Amino acid sequence: MERGWLHQERFLLGLILYLLLQGRGDSFTINCSGFDQHGVDPAAFQAAFDRKAFRPVVNYSIPIQVNISFTLSAILELNEQLQLMTSFLWLNMIWYNQFIRWNPAECGGIRTLSIVAENLWIPDIFIQEFMDVDQTPTGLMAYVNSDGRVKYDKPMQVVSICNLDIFYFPFDEQNCTLSFSSFIYTVENMVLGMEKEVWEILNTSQNLIQSKGEWVLLGIHQRALKMTLDTGQYDQIIFYVAIRRKPTLYVINLLVPSSFLIAIDALSFYLPAESQTRAPFKMTLLLGYNVFLLMMNDILPDSGTPLISIYFALCLSMMVLSLLETIFISYLLHLATTQPPPMPRWLHSLLLHGTRATRCCPTVPQKGTKGLDLTPAHLPGLKEPVELVGTVPDPREADLRGCPGSTVARQEDEAQKLQLVGLWVQFSHMMDTLLFRLYLLFMATFVITVIVLWNT
Ligand SMILES: *[C@@H]1O[C@H](CO)[C@@H](O)[C@H](O)[C@H]1NC(C)=O
Ligand SMILES: *[C@@H]1O[C@H](CO)[C@@H](O)[C@H](O)[C@H]1NC(C)=O
Ligand SMILES: *[C@@H]1O[C@H](CO)[C@@H](O)[C@H](O)[C@H]1NC(C)=O
Ligand SMILES: *[C@@H]1O[C@H](CO)[C@@H](O)[C@H](O)[C@H]1NC(C)=O
Repeated sequence: MERGWLHQERFLLGLILYLLLQGRGDSFTINCSGFDQHGVDPAAFQAAFDRKAFRPVVNYSIPIQVNISFTLSAILELNEQLQLMTSFLWLNMIWYNQFIRWNPAECGGIRTLSIVAENLWIPDIFIQEFMDVDQTPTGLMAYVNSDGRVKYDKPMQVVSICNLDIFYFPFDEQNCTLSFSSFIYTVENMVLGMEKEVWEILNTSQNLIQSKGEWVLLGIHQRALKMTLDTGQYDQIIFYVAIRRKPTLYVINLLVPSSFLIAIDALSFYLPAESQTRAPFKMTLLLGYNVFLLMMNDILPDSGTPLISIYFALCLSMMVLSLLETIFISYLLHLATTQPPPMPRWLHSLLLHGTRATRCCPTVPQKGTKGLDLTPAHLPGLKEPVELVGTVPDPREADLRGCPGSTVARQEDEAQKLQLVGLWVQFSHMMDTLLFRLYLLFMATFVITVIVLWNT
């Protein structure tokens, strides 16, 4: 009986001791009686505010858990030269402050209070890629729940270093990292967690970034890891922000004009080689292209060699080559019509084979030049031969006159020369066609290569 009573007494004592200890653990509970009549009493919070220099945990062996998330609200700029991304984001942090707690029932039902953040301990979360001072405005507020849960949001203009690869400009995608971690707290003191799922971050950010800016947010990926330095291990959450450039502006301003110019350059091969206008035309195009390149220099990225620069350089080379080709053909035609050099035998047979011309009497010159439509009007450089043509008598006329010996010899000589001229002119035209086809082939190859590269 007595033992039983003693047992009960012990139990009660234990219960009282336990309640007392609980009470000690609850010593941070704020006495907020009268808040509903006289407003919040600053004195009631003073004890909690005085502790803001310290990590708000009761047991220092237990790390504080800070859950973070962010909302990317703008991608302001990417600087290819300095390899910097300027973005704007809201960083949200949530943690439990064990020094602040109250009973809402005693406090007129107040569940949440906003408190100036300067009065509270704030985790020192920073972004490792920061390349500029954090220009967070001062005087921000934090929301504190009755159970000590603190929610703190801060706007940040983030100038972060990012490995920018502009090879595929303007069809490039960039993958920038934002690594959040604490300045000084190691994993023994602070652990980081996610406040929201990463797809929620992506969704809210995508809804916010509906500006008409240059960049589209493609995706956000997240990875948590522990960073080991010689001062200890630090908790870290890395976000990979994938963005893509909107290429429309560049396609309209860079690719379309350049393609038009190169297409006109290709089409200018259809200007007759004998006309004097082809070379000046190509020269004008080349000049126009240079002016275009000068103007476009401002739009292109400042550093690195994007594929589009190679494309422009190749376009320019093609134009120069086509101008050189025109000069070469003009020279050939000039040579052919003024003083045709003797034609190598293989070339001769090749040309004859090509046109399937038959070696025959004085009709050969006409036949050889027939397919080429060689009229004096088309050959401004053709001075001598024109005269020759003028002096060549009509075959029927020659037949009528009975072809006196000396005249026949002279006529045959002239006819042979004329034939040579015709063959050389024919050769020039064949060269022109051949080079034009090579030009087209090369251009098609390189345009297809560039397009394939851009699509990968
Ligand atoms: C809270 O403070 C009021 C006076 O401001 C006092 O009367 C009351 O006893 C206190 N309550 C507790 C639980 O300390
Ligand atoms: C503090 O936390 C550590 C680790 O959880 C535990 O071993 C220790 O007993 C705690 N101290 C107190 C006083 O509760
Ligand atoms: C942080 O997240 C963890 C797990 O996601 C959760 O258990 C914890 O309660 C969160 N802390 C806060 C302060 O919300
Ligand atoms: C970004 O880069 C990281 C590591 O370099 C990679 O794990 C991630 O998948 C990349 N994200 C995208 C969208 O390419």
